Amino acid sequence: MISGDVKIFPNAIELAQEAASKVAAVMRAGIQATGSASLVLSGGNTPRAVYELLASDEWRGRVDWPKLHLFWGDERAVPPNAPDSNYRMANESLIRKIPIPAANVHRIPGERPPQEAALLYQAEIRRVMQLRDRELPRFTLVLLGLGEDGHIASLFPNSAALQERVRLVTENYIERLRASRITLTMPVINSALSVLVLVSGKEKAGILRAVMDTDVPEYPANMVRPTAGSTTWMVDADAASLIQQPR
Ligand code: 6PG
Repeated sequence: MISGDVKIFPNAIELAQEAASKVAAVMRAGIQATGSASLVLSGGNTPRAVYELLASDEWRGRVDWPKLHLFWGDERAVPPNAPDSNYRMANESLIRKIPIPAANVHRIPGERPPQEAALLYQAEIRRVMQLRDRELPRFTLVLLGLGEDGHIASLFPNSAALQERVRLVTENYIERLRASRITLTMPVINSALSVLVLVSGKEKAGILRAVMDTDVPEYPANMVRPTAGSTTWMVDADAASLIQQPR
């Protein structure tokens, strides 16, 4: 069973608009409260439309970008210009169109060997978030997508990284993909002030129903339970087609 509010939208466009609006509002509130805010971006297809909206002429002014720090929830073991780099997707759809200082963009160095990339990225999070030993970062907002197998970030079902309790970031070898990923760990996700999960498309209908079921074993997606934060699931009608629609 997942935790948090589930909001269903008629289509992917309305989902993206609401998600962009939520991101902008949470960033504004964070900046107002503490002078800066941190946004953890996700990879995958669903957030691209959200990033494009946030970067559009109409929306760009709604966030005080220089006060924001950008991070990533996960990355593939590829250089930043690779077609499947999560950094590249965010850069093309958002970062290069907004006035954010390069020093505020904290990408995962996917071009380095995965273990080293994880250590470097962890050190960067510690530095920027000014963490003491064993302290967990409290990101203002973590964006996530839902994989068809129930994964979030690069925390795949039954993978070793799911058990990690100490490190903030870890490499995760995924047998099925025959590839390593670098990912935030579950304790980090669950220390966020807010989490927003975006789920779009009919190919997600089955897994969304499964992770919402109370009787199924745990999926990474239903381990998202921020200890002192909130979770919102934004879902389009296609993805929600197998769960009950609210009236
Ligand atoms: C990635 C992601 C991953 C993604 C889900 C959903 O790098 O692929 O971080 O966790 O969010 O697989 O992806 P879609 O949005 O493409 O469905």
